[in-house]
Amino acid sequence: MCSSIAPRLWFLTDRRIREDYPQQEILRALKTKCCEEDLDFRALVMDEVVLTIEQGNLGLRVNGELITAYPQVVVVRVPTPWVQSDSDVTVLRHLEKMGCRLMNRPQAILNCVNKFWTFQELAGHGVPLPDTFSYGGHENFAKMIDEAEVLEFPMVVKNTRGHRGKAVFLARDKHHLADLSHLIRHEAPYLFQKYIQESHGKDVRVIVVGGRVVGTMLRCSTDGRMQSNCSLGGIGMMCSLSEQGKQLAIQVSNILGMDVCGIDLLMKDDGSFYVCEANANVGFIAFDKACNLDVAGIIADYAASLLPPGRLMRRMSLLSVVSTASETSEPELGPPASATVDNMSASSSSVDSDPETTERELLTKLPEGLFNMNQLIANEIKLLVE
Ligand SMILES: Nc1ncnc2c1ncn2[C@@H]1O[C@H](COP(=O)(O)OP(=O)(O)O)[C@@H](O)[C@H]1O
Ligand SMILES: [Mg+2]
Repeated sequence: MCSSIAPRLWFLTDRRIREDYPQQEILRALKTKCCEEDLDFRALVMDEVVLTIEQGNLGLRVNGELITAYPQVVVVRVPTPWVQSDSDVTVLRHLEKMGCRLMNRPQAILNCVNKFWTFQELAGHGVPLPDTFSYGGHENFAKMIDEAEVLEFPMVVKNTRGHRGKAVFLARDKHHLADLSHLIRHEAPYLFQKYIQESHGKDVRVIVVGGRVVGTMLRCSTDGRMQSNCSLGGIGMMCSLSEQGKQLAIQVSNILGMDVCGIDLLMKDDGSFYVCEANANVGFIAFDKACNLDVAGIIADYAASLLPPGRLMRRMSLLSVVSTASETSEPELGPPASATVDNMSASSSSVDSDPETTERELLTKLPEGLFNMNQLIANEIKLLVE
């Protein structure tokens, strides 16, 4: 059972997507991980959270319950195309301002909410991007019919908030573009992009977790269309990726500040790539299957790896119990009992290190002023273990 001092990890998602495969899988993996590592776990949906500012301090209530023990890490899954800054992002900002480590962070999520925002972030970093135009104001699509002509036809047109390949078009010529202008909904602006012909009907999906490429999948459309999205009938198969491709995906993930993301790369004939888009709320049902991976397990391992100070906290509290209870003779300082049973997620990632090692490393890395106190504790732990 989890002690009240155990490190706290939350999973926060949205009611509309919580039953979907990635959320269900992440929930399963986090529960397993938290049980194995004696972490305090809670799963919530956005609209259960009430944000408070009382006596000048930020606070939280969940379904009427006043929260006094805040999570150190919150794994966030929000449906990126619908993310609203005045509701969803307000919750995420609140948690972040309270000191919680969000995964992904709100700014990173915002960087991927709008495809043009992603490109604005990536521009100027030497990342290969297909030339792309967009606009401000309302219903300015029509004015772009002339402005974007320099991108040449056929030209890719995308809703900046689109997803699953549904609002991506290949415009043949000016007339086609004008027709599209009448047909489409103009709630979000569109972008106009150079068509990468070599990549027609295929791209590479790279999943990056904690700055590490966990797998790569080639996606191919099966009906001749340009979009290779699996949700449109495209098929995914595990593929290898050049070191250059991997480094590009990692660079994109780092620039955008992502902990977990899916990067789509368009392919060029010479083996190099263009960045197509970055997904903060990456799906992985096809990816798990094609690459024989447990992406949710990798995400859970990474989330737990962000908690080392909590582990130290738990040990410190244990020490205080040991030193105050004189009758206690055999403190349980070994790994939690559950760690000795089959570790379901152990095979999925090596991100998480041995807790004892992490603590030792942490103790030696602490600032000068804290050293003596922590050295004492370290010695005590050593004595107790021996
Ligand atoms: N500029 C482009 N040139 C060629 N193919 C493209 C281009 N942009 C997108 N595609 C294809 O369309 C798919 C969907 O585009 P993307 O920008 O990823 O939108 P979505 O968010 O809807 O997946 C991509 O996976 C790729 O196969
Ligand atoms: Mg995509």
